[in-house]
Amino acid sequence: MNIITTKWKPELYNEKHSFVYDYGENLIKLLDPKANERILDLGCGSGQLTFKINELAKETIGIDKSQEMIDDAKSKFKNIEFQVGDAGNFEFNEKFDSIFSNATLHWVKNYKDAIKCMFENLKSNGKIVLEFGGKGNVQTIVNQLRDSLRNRGYIEQSELDLWYFPSIGEYSTELESVGFRVLLAEHFDRPTELANEKSGIKDWISMFAESFFKDVSFNHIEEIKNEVQDKVKEKCLINGKWFADYKRIRIVAIKE
Ligand code: BEZ
Repeated sequence: MNIITTKWKPELYNEKHSFVYDYGENLIKLLDPKANERILDLGCGSGQLTFKINELAKETIGIDKSQEMIDDAKSKFKNIEFQVGDAGNFEFNEKFDSIFSNATLHWVKNYKDAIKCMFENLKSNGKIVLEFGGKGNVQTIVNQLRDSLRNRGYIEQSELDLWYFPSIGEYSTELESVGFRVLLAEHFDRPTELANEKSGIKDWISMFAESFFKDVSFNHIEEIKNEVQDKVKEKCLINGKWFADYKRIRIVAIKE
């Protein structure tokens, strides 16, 4: 089996991709943490949102698959519990009042396992508040990346299926099948401004889509990133600023 693992770089993430957790602050309003609640931040990254939730809740635990991100989170927020953990395979002795997850679940291809774990680790009447990439997410960038790889003969790489971007119909059906009641399901465009005016799309690819370049020759990697950025200009360069064509799904559901 070809297992793709993404190596996270906390410095690059915090320096140029802080929009990931900046946008997540809105989601905390939907979570509405209470002072007596125990909350899990699933896919906590470097812990910025875990910290904000923890200021309002009784206890917050952050888990993330990346050891690098967990080390970074622990070094920044010393009073919060962070653990390396897998969204598709986790178990806690004490159940949670709510599970929060921002910009993580599109990385979890075994989404049925993740849904089952969330259900099993919640108290009865517990809530999940989730946001992640929905159907059609980053389609402009990724379609061009696939074309540029394919045109140079990198067929296998161009067919890499790295993410899970469901529609709200598909995802709600999965949630209902294990016993969640879906209170809110939204699917919306959220063009996301990228940090660097010169290399916004190239930086995005380097941070999130580097796995497409497994066994691609060194010279081709830079050439492909340049070509993708150039070809998506018409859609992604707006008034001199780069935007990624994000589409999000946002879900609130209750364990009944
Ligand atoms: C997202 O947040 O939508 C996303 C991030 C990285 C790769 C793919 C999607």
